[in-house]
Amino acid sequence: MYTTKKTQGNTEWFVQDRFGLFIHFGLYALPARHEWIKQTDMIPEEKYEQYFKYFNPDMLDPRDWARQAKNAGMKYAILTTKHHEGFCLFDTKYTDYKITNTQYGKDLVKEYVDAFRAEGLKIGFYYSLLDWHHPDFTIDQFHPRRYDANAKELNEGRDMHRYAEYMRNQVRELLTNYGKIDIIWFDFSYSKNEQPRDWMKGKGKEDWEAEKLIALVRSLQPDIIINNRTEIEQDIVTPEQVGVEEWPKDKETGERLVWEACHTLSGSWGYYRDETSWKSPEMLISLLIKIVSRGGNLIMNVGPTSRGFFDYRAENALKTYGEWMKYNCKSIYNCTMADPEFTEPNGCRLTQSNDGKRLYIHLLDYPFSSVVVPGLGGKVDYVQFLHDGSELLFNDVPANSGDEAKTAVSIGLPILKPNVVVPVIEVFLKDR
Ligand code: GLC
Repeated sequence: MYTTKKTQGNTEWFVQDRFGLFIHFGLYALPARHEWIKQTDMIPEEKYEQYFKYFNPDMLDPRDWARQAKNAGMKYAILTTKHHEGFCLFDTKYTDYKITNTQYGKDLVKEYVDAFRAEGLKIGFYYSLLDWHHPDFTIDQFHPRRYDANAKELNEGRDMHRYAEYMRNQVRELLTNYGKIDIIWFDFSYSKNEQPRDWMKGKGKEDWEAEKLIALVRSLQPDIIINNRTEIEQDIVTPEQVGVEEWPKDKETGERLVWEACHTLSGSWGYYRDETSWKSPEMLISLLIKIVSRGGNLIMNVGPTSRGFFDYRAENALKTYGEWMKYNCKSIYNCTMADPEFTEPNGCRLTQSNDGKRLYIHLLDYPFSSVVVPGLGGKVDYVQFLHDGSELLFNDVPANSGDEAKTAVSIGLPILKPNVVVPVIEVFLKDR
């Protein structure tokens, strides 16, 4: 129904699939109080070494992760192959700071790829541009050593060119050794940030040598989707933990962009034991609906525990998605923002199938006995609840003030909200 700005990667499957799993896993699962803990607490290297020494996810079963993602209705996944701490979840030749040198001993990226592919999910790799372990990565505002008395001296001899080459070497491994990869997700740039000390400098595309990095990615995996965080716009934009009320557009040309919002279940990305800000079932479901109703994708994050399993709160959240998607996924897959000819009633969000034939009304606030949709008058063939396929009666009515130009349809509803977190009305449109 809509055209988006043309880019090099293949986003065709992506805009149909709509829903994915983000997985943040690394040494920070052990302290279990944020994936940035090394940075926020300025943890000395020797202390952080303990997490490497004791890293042993003895209950990790990637097939179980994949099954849970699939049951939740997710169609793709993105795993942190390396986060800002620098620890690699794959068997790389370019550092010893890798999972195969821990008690766990196995290449988790390989296990993940095999397990998720077996469940039919598309495969994504997150790769951090920041690296707080690499000896060539210069100390800046985010570095754990930024306030050390000798921070400036520590920077001497560090060489970002060597680091950029290290990244290219690792990305070459990631995109050569694991078959077809569907997404690569680089994180993140901050060249414009003000720095706390005058000799410091933020980092962006120049530092990452992003042009070369991207050219390498394209040469190894021509169809792959690349995100926008190297500071060079690519296939998708990736707003983070925010409500997006409007479909993002290219600032210069005004074209719509392919976009993916990323969100957490409880605020942090890595496993955080004591966090109490877990999203409710209503929030989880409405996030997904709101994003698709503006033409976007949602990637929801789980941070596995240091023993490798999904904490019960994460499991419950995935079950919430699974239960809702089982009955309502038709309003998500292959759907997008509804045609602007239809006005969203208060407390509702609309999506429409890509072929234009079906309109979905998501009742975020369940109304009393009826819902009126301006713009639908004369265009409806048949209406039912999506979850149980039960008929809903409707008739044309005059639209409310403000929308007089449109004829509305009033759809009758049962007084009591059905037993669905967010009920969905399925409208079959005439002559489409
Ligand atoms: C932020 C954080 C990071 C997380 C990412 C996901 O950039 O630095 O911890 O991985 O968001 O979008």
